[in-house]
Amino acid sequence: MSDGELRGKVAVVTGGATGIGLAASLAFARAGAAVAVNYSKNTLAASEAVKTIGALGVDAVAIRADVSNEAEVRAMLARVAKELGGVDILVNNAGWTRRVQPHSDLDSLTDDVWDRVWAVNVKGAFYCVRAAAPHMRQRGAGSVVNVTSVAAFAGGGSSMAYAASKAALTTLTMSLARALAPTIRVNAVAPGLIPTGFGGWTDVHWKATSTRTPIQRLPTAEETGAAILYLATTGGLTGQTIVVDGGLLALGPMESAGER
Ligand SMILES: NC(=O)c1ccc[n+]([C@@H]2O[C@H](COP(=O)([O-])OP(=O)(O)OC[C@H]3O[C@@H](n4cnc5c(N)ncnc54)[C@H](OP(=O)(O)O)[C@@H]3O)[C@@H](O)[C@H]2O)c1
Repeated sequence: MSDGELRGKVAVVTGGATGIGLAASLAFARAGAAVAVNYSKNTLAASEAVKTIGALGVDAVAIRADVSNEAEVRAMLARVAKELGGVDILVNNAGWTRRVQPHSDLDSLTDDVWDRVWAVNVKGAFYCVRAAAPHMRQRGAGSVVNVTSVAAFAGGGSSMAYAASKAALTTLTMSLARALAPTIRVNAVAPGLIPTGFGGWTDVHWKATSTRTPIQRLPTAEETGAAILYLATTGGLTGQTIVVDGGLLALGPMESAGER
């Protein structure tokens, strides 16, 4: 994608002020799109993101909305359409988790964790698509990219509920791709271990895991953002997931058996 190719387009990135979301916001801005940066708590990061995006010469707006609250989501999409002129791209990147391990400790996985993980990671993404779809139809086309996880395919991760929520979002990606075609394309990016602040992980954790991948390093937020941009702008793709994990999933059973 060359610089400026998305001029006149508008992208909404949930959780767009930090980590993978920020990398996606910047990738869209570099491609020329106006960007709505959604956040729920981190006002400082959101205003900094808007400043950085603005310096790239495109419009940007920070909008606070908890994606698990449907009224806030609808108000956010209406505001984006009014202030930036429409909605062409939605990235459902906002995610929530709490570490509940070991997974074998089933009693530790409380209803509170199940409910929050489902409300943000699954229903939140659905609310955003439902609110964005009419705006995309008005433009004649639209593209959604959901941020899932390798946990969706391997069942590991911060909690069993988190893995299940990302598996649900993977299925939802295919259901929505079928339901909204041909006007709106819906795809997903499944990150592996990407060094961000997600789940309270620190540099120590990331360093300790960095050589577990076949590529001997962790993929970056920027590489994940590039995959999001690719899916959002490649017309032939819908219902697909790109795994950005440095080969983690590909290790599979042979690696578990001590072989490459
Ligand atoms: N990093 C990894 O290794 C990894 C691996 C697999 C999948 N992922 C997925 O990647 C996505 C982005 O995570 P990240 O790694 O970039 O970590 P991050 O920087 O912590 O990003 C999470 C973002 O979600 C936002 N958010 C959380 N709850 C929200 C809500 N209810 N409404 C709106 N925004 C909300 C946060 O904004 P506020 O702070 O303002 O709430 C934050 O910007 C998540 O969906 C995560 O599950 C990450």
